[in-house]
Amino acid sequence: MHTARSIVILTGAGISVESGISTFRDRNGIWAKHDWRDYATPEGYERHPARVLEFYNQRRRALKSVQPNQAHHALARLEGAHKGEFLLVTQNVDDLHESAGSRKLVHMHGELNSALCRACGMRAPWRDDITVNSQCKSCGATGFLRPDVVWFGEMPYQMETIYRALGKAELFIAIGTSGHVYPAAQFVEEARLSGARTIELNLDETENADAFDERITGRATETVPALVDRLLG
Ligand code: OAD
Repeated sequence: MHTARSIVILTGAGISVESGISTFRDRNGIWAKHDWRDYATPEGYERHPARVLEFYNQRRRALKSVQPNQAHHALARLEGAHKGEFLLVTQNVDDLHESAGSRKLVHMHGELNSALCRACGMRAPWRDDITVNSQCKSCGATGFLRPDVVWFGEMPYQMETIYRALGKAELFIAIGTSGHVYPAAQFVEEARLSGARTIELNLDETENADAFDERITGRATETVPALVDRLLG
């Protein structure tokens, strides 16, 4: 179909649903059961650190028993076969893209399998629970570790890299994201300004749908491999 030299892909929680990970804003989503003000803000953490740490510990533990699905694998296949520039930007804090083999990957909202030290700023791989007594492996401080996940009101990671890629994008694809959270929700506009063709893949039509040149509805495990086949001809 389309021989875009430069491809930028944005993924959200919908790509991991069929691997058994919850979305945030659906009827049974994470924010329907937990108030994001308590669990996804620096203030919520200050109020109840142990409760917030345990919420992320449970989600980190759950990663040990999930596997990437056909959508994650298809994106790794696209990266491997594409000759031009490629960047996969995920809002997801799971590790399913890297498990599937994606390498040119940015976790803009951080990662569950990483810890951030509030004392020294260390970010390091962390697969165990984080508690209020955990010690930083870099500065040795105790009680300063938190999940390396970007909370509301905090700056997402690697924005320069992302905007540079969007500035050159010829094809922008958003997969399984509701388009509610900024700045990610605005990447499609940024890509359009660069002249990119834009495609949205989601189970349903999203609030952002009008911003895309093409919309494909359906489950990610079906729509993403089909689109990758089409792109690779
Ligand atoms: P949302 O929960 O807001 O949206 C998930 C989207 O996936 C919805 O539009 C669903 O319709 C769609 N979806 C569900 N099942 C699907 C399937 N099988 N195939 C394709 N699409 C499907 O999640 P995000 O947009 O990722 O931030 O949310 C963005 C951010 O808000 C998250 O990164 C998180 C959250 O607060 C932080 O935690 C910092």
